[in-house]
Amino acid sequence: MRWLVTGGLGFIGSNFIRVVLRERPDVRIVNLDAMTYAGNPANLRDLEDNPRYRFVHGDIGDVNAVESAIGDGVDAIVNFAAETHVDRSILDPEAFLRTDILGTHVLLEAVRRRGIARYLQVSTDEVYGDVERGESSEDDPLRPRSPYSASKAGGDLHVLAYRSTYDTPVLITRGSNTYGPYQYPEKLIPLFVTNLIDDQQVPVYGDGLQIRDWLHVEDHARGILHVLEHGTLGEVYNVGGGNPRTNLEITRLLLEGCGRSHDTHVRHVVDRPGHDRRYAVNTAKLSALGWAPRVPFADGIAATIVWYREHESWWRPLKSGEFLEYYKRQYAHR
Ligand SMILES: NC(=O)c1ccc[n+]([C@@H]2O[C@H](COP(=O)([O-])OP(=O)(O)OC[C@H]3O[C@@H](n4cnc5c(N)ncnc54)[C@H](O)[C@@H]3O)[C@@H](O)[C@H]2O)c1
Repeated sequence: MRWLVTGGLGFIGSNFIRVVLRERPDVRIVNLDAMTYAGNPANLRDLEDNPRYRFVHGDIGDVNAVESAIGDGVDAIVNFAAETHVDRSILDPEAFLRTDILGTHVLLEAVRRRGIARYLQVSTDEVYGDVERGESSEDDPLRPRSPYSASKAGGDLHVLAYRSTYDTPVLITRGSNTYGPYQYPEKLIPLFVTNLIDDQQVPVYGDGLQIRDWLHVEDHARGILHVLEHGTLGEVYNVGGGNPRTNLEITRLLLEGCGRSHDTHVRHVVDRPGHDRRYAVNTAKLSALGWAPRVPFADGIAATIVWYREHESWWRPLKSGEFLEYYKRQYAHR
């Protein structure tokens, strides 16, 4: 079996590739990644000499790059490639439309042209928008409210349109907020942990009472793998951790884990515009297919803090240059 994974130098893609190579000895992987600021070769350095792994540098929006990654053919495409940070989508939405919608389109065309047997679109629970109460199910209407979630929803709808129109063999997963090793330090958990390790304050948006459902990255990766192998074509599957927490609760856990105090290390800053208060997904459909998250939240968070402590050489180079400019642009005026 040969699978094309896109965006595999990012957070979830790199964890997915490692899980697949470890647990599926009959699978070979080609990883097509544009190496944006979020694509980090260090995430998969340990696989560089693995004969079942090949890296291709290129953009999913570039037909030629996609063709050369597919080469003689692949059995499946798993699309992780995306612009993924809500705050950056507010500063500069265009790249999101290009990759998350047009890039998805180029991949779908390749699936059609080359007769590829399965295409899995990695999506997000953010496409459902703000959920005041209850849980989002897969056939709920999409009400995205940020340029990021709107472009992801555009990608999802295009994928489903290809199913209805051309009978393209597609699947979609909608994962919840993911945490764990190798996450770029702009996102809440790695940003806060690395700031706290460095004895810096952490910027909490607004009152910090926004609720997210936290999912360990290995559980997310296994959820995607499970859908790829067992899902029904044309269907959407939510992947959630079942760990709803406010941002303030997460902050408290991280402060405790890093031995810092709320009074000295928390700075409440002006909230993100249009900030969704709550996401919550119903995962009964994927449970019925035989998937369940394995990592208990307290263990996962503790292990994640330890991982960032022990991998300063991974994240320190990332918190320089472009990151510092972004951080200033994002937080200095708040
Ligand atoms: N992180 C989360 O909490 C979360 C939750 C649910 C769903 N998702 C989805 O999972 C996927 C992966 O998210 P992540 O957090 O690992 O993202 P990430 O930002 O860490 O990585 C994205 C990767 O995609 C690559 N990429 C970006 N544009 C590209 C392009 N045009 N062509 C080829 N490669 C490109 C980047 O270089 C990077 O390696 C995304 O589709 C995201 O929407 C993320």
